[in-house]
Amino acid sequence: MGNPLHAMVVFGTRPEAIKMAPLVLELQRSAAFKTSVCVTAQHREMLDQVLTLFSIKPDFDLNIMQSGQTLAEITTRALTGLEHVFREAKPDLVFVHGDTTTTFAGALAAYYSQIPVGHVEAGLRTGRKYAPFPEELNRKLTGAITDLHFAPTDTARENLLRENIPADDIFVTGNTVIDALKVTVRPDYCFTRQELNNLRKDRRLLLVEAHRRENLGEPMEAICRGLRRIVTDHPDIEIVFPVHKNPAVREPVYRHLSGMERVHLIEPLDVADFHNLMQKCTLLLTDSGGVQEEAPALGRPVLVLREVTERPEAVAAGTVALVGVNEQQIVGSASRLLNDQTAYLKMATAVNPYGDGNASARIAAAVCWRYGLTDVRPADYQPQ
Ligand code: UD1
Ligand code: UDP
Repeated sequence: MGNPLHAMVVFGTRPEAIKMAPLVLELQRSAAFKTSVCVTAQHREMLDQVLTLFSIKPDFDLNIMQSGQTLAEITTRALTGLEHVFREAKPDLVFVHGDTTTTFAGALAAYYSQIPVGHVEAGLRTGRKYAPFPEELNRKLTGAITDLHFAPTDTARENLLRENIPADDIFVTGNTVIDALKVTVRPDYCFTRQELNNLRKDRRLLLVEAHRRENLGEPMEAICRGLRRIVTDHPDIEIVFPVHKNPAVREPVYRHLSGMERVHLIEPLDVADFHNLMQKCTLLLTDSGGVQEEAPALGRPVLVLREVTERPEAVAAGTVALVGVNEQQIVGSASRLLNDQTAYLKMATAVNPYGDGNASARIAAAVCWRYGLTDVRPADYQPQ
């Protein structure tokens, strides 16, 4: 065997870290790869929570986060920092993930250095330039640069084929978030955040997460007003809302909801706590992308606080419903599920269109095949 392939894994935010951690661990286990990790730290605390949980020590840390950062600031700081890292480390292949500004800057910096790019979670699309903003364009632009596209589902593969990406460059792998979920969720799990162990068993738990840029402003106000009404209308409901670190999220959330009995506004949870809390909750209300993939696997219904989703598989399966960001619709949809056991049970069905926990192994195998280290192209992931 020749020299191992130097694969550099680049990420910067919480969701990228959660979904890249299983791949980093997989590559580190394989003798075919020399693995290095570069974090832009577009997020700081929320990234570090994940690095600690998975015991990942970055080789490079650009530490770019600033409070209230603009998109142009993130892009330029990440791009310049990554150029220096690539020049110094000279990786053979750069992995980026998903659709954040770090993703796009990572792919662009690799292209400028003429290093091949592997895009994990490739091919998600809404077809609407501003929904989600700026993620739809981040993933399209990243797709235009990418050499190896790791699509989580067949739908994502189809999206890429429609953009004339060669079929040979696309591998359907499942989503690495299911690899992570298999590690974190335990029946006997004890929460690191003590107050979560003390939640009352006679109350139903609503778990909330909302942060998207296109929801900042009036949509976030409407979401908060809706949550107030839901908790007031249902005396047996308790809301846990780990509030994203973005000041533009925290201000309206605390203004509307702090001090309310049965509403717990808490700091972002580490991912093991969050996954196990999902397992215990009755219902999720969220605009998060990752949560839409995790909840179906856990059999928990999700009301998506957005107008469109790039994750249609769980909607088709019936576990996820799009409710938009209108106060009336949010209250109506949540109340229907909380009051109607039949409607609730119809949604609370465990389906898993997103993976079997072996996505990272498929990605590593695909790279080995592409670089001639093995003769067999890995079979595409097919949901059972
Ligand atoms: C980013 C991604 C979004 C992803 C989200 C996941 C972009 C443009 N957006 O959005 O796709 O869904 O992450 O959460 O890439 N902050 C902290 N500490 C942290 C993290 C954030 O203080 O650990 C605060 C900072 O003030 C920062 C602000 O949050 O400026 C916004 O962070 P940013 O990464 O720009 O945007 P997100 O909304 O988090
Ligand atoms: N998550 C977490 N702690 C929390 C809330 C969410 O670890 O307090 C996890 C969640 O399980 C999912 C990921 O964060 O894996 C989703 O990240 P986020 O919602 O920030 O971004 P998105 O997926 O919308 O890009």
